[in-house]
Amino acid sequence: MVSKDQFRTAMSKFATGVTVITTIDENGQPHEMTANSFTSVCLEPPTILVCAGHTTNSFGYLDKNKKFGVNILSTGQQELGAYFAKRPEQQDGSAVYSYAYGDSELPILEGSLVFMGCNVVGEHIYGDHTIFVGEVEELMVASDDSPLLFFDSKWYDPSSS
Ligand SMILES: Cc1cc2nc3c(=O)[nH]c(=O)nc-3n(C[C@H](O)[C@H](O)[C@H](O)COP(=O)(O)O)c2cc1C
Repeated sequence: MVSKDQFRTAMSKFATGVTVITTIDENGQPHEMTANSFTSVCLEPPTILVCAGHTTNSFGYLDKNKKFGVNILSTGQQELGAYFAKRPEQQDGSAVYSYAYGDSELPILEGSLVFMGCNVVGEHIYGDHTIFVGEVEELMVASDDSPLLFFDSKWYDPSSS
């Protein structure tokens, strides 16, 4: 039997980029969640997925709104990656960030490498998470900066030696 801790440690050895998933909350305000379960699904149509834990606020907002934004973080956004991994009640208001809005009317986190505005085209509940499959309706490649990486529970800048 594989324990939760063993599995978490094993998965921490898989290096990933980092995204912030943006949605709209029950008051019509932007909501953010750091996520690294993001991956592409297929090219035609352009489709991605992200997994949201059932205890997250984001799960409820994605399930209700049926759309979400994916912001791929740059190295300069490490503090935001850590900040948006906290639940709103744990956030102290110290983070500095701003949004733009495009055709999808989803919050675009300024300074990100890439933004994808997605419509939910599939949901699969498994265990304590739901896999949200999103068709990419809006795409912006905004920056040539280095990507923020996450490995072994730590942040990395691939451009620093
Ligand atoms: C690097 C990193 C990646 C994460 N990836 C995910 C993820 O893919 N899915 C998820 O549900 N939570 C993920 N989390 C945890 C959420 O960011 C965290 O639970 C957050 O507080 C949820 O916010 P919310 O409840 O306001 O939506 C990740 C955290 C970190 C630090």
